[in-house]
Amino acid sequence: KKLIIINGPNLNLLGKRETNIYGNLTFTEFYEAVVKKYPDVDLTYYQSNIEGELIDKIQEVGFSYDGIILNAAAYTHTSVGIGDAVKAVTTPVVEVHISNTFSREEFRHQSYISPNAKGVILGFGLQSYELAIESFISAS
Ligand code: DQA
Repeated sequence: KKLIIINGPNLNLLGKRETNIYGNLTFTEFYEAVVKKYPDVDLTYYQSNIEGELIDKIQEVGFSYDGIILNAAAYTHTSVGIGDAVKAVTTPVVEVHISNTFSREEFRHQSYISPNAKGVILGFGLQSYELAIESFISAS
């Protein structure tokens, strides 16, 4: 299976940023462990703080890859454009969040991604990404 993890704004600061919510591990450390754990998955990782770059990446992979694991971070709650991109592509998108966005501020309860996502996994810390990978592995 050919999968990509796409991370949105500020997720490059994982391990430094609000560690009480997002944990102490950097995404690179986590990603290296995940690549080792799933040797049969052809996994790629992309991160951008820029909305249009996230849209470009979704368009680029979204007609050929088997799955997109998308944490659009703050853009989840604001971006009609990323929501439209998720709708436009044929590759299924699983939306993930590290934190349980429903236990946080009201503005995090809205998602422009969810209506067009295959599914949503949130609140399990970095394990949310692994659960998303496993959902694609077990999908036929
Ligand atoms: C997040 C939740 C968002 O509300 C927030 O803006 C983030 C990270 C998460 O993974 O928990 O940057 O997507």
